[in-house]
Amino acid sequence: MTHEGGGLLGTVVYDPFCGRGTAPFQALLMNRRAIGNDINAVAYCVTKAKTNAPDLEHVEQRLDLLEAGFDMARWEDAASSHPEFFSYAFAPETFKQLLYLRDSLHWSASDLDCMIAAVVLGILSRRRQISFLFEQPDAKDYQHQAFLLHTLLEAT
Ligand SMILES: C[S@@+](CC[C@H](N)C(=O)[O-])C[C@H]1O[C@@H](n2cnc3c(N)ncnc32)[C@H](O)[C@@H]1O
Repeated sequence: MTHEGGGLLGTVVYDPFCGRGTAPFQALLMNRRAIGNDINAVAYCVTKAKTNAPDLEHVEQRLDLLEAGFDMARWEDAASSHPEFFSYAFAPETFKQLLYLRDSLHWSASDLDCMIAAVVLGILSRRRQISFLFEQPDAKDYQHQAFLLHTLLEAT
């Protein structure tokens, strides 16, 4: 992947298990064509965002629209219908915002929404969030976290 030989320019780099898309991203930076594949929806979303980055200005406009369309009270019922775990994992406002984003982001059709979903997934995966999970007494709580990460994508 790091070979700069001119003879390879224009060739295609294929990573069949691309994870978060480092190989396809680097290939594009090196003027190669790139194909990434991954069975995991989170990996797909992050790779798609990395390799099809929209203009920051358009992302900001979309974020303004999303913010304007959010009504906290509307997500009360949806939030309370989820397992109790989520009330320990997220502040009530954050959880309602996530449910709203899950419903609103059309990440597989829109590069803008894909970038926003990828950033949200990155924030959810931060070390602080992970270290909090290690304090959970019940192993099945990990599954709830994984559920949220994946359903954030699968609903759209
Ligand atoms: C170790 S990660 C890949 C890391 C990546 N190649 C890199 O260099 O950063 C392995 C990836 O393989 C994906 N994977 C596992 N089984 C798969 C399958 N049957 N088809 C497609 N992707 C799969 C996983 O979802 C995971 O993202």
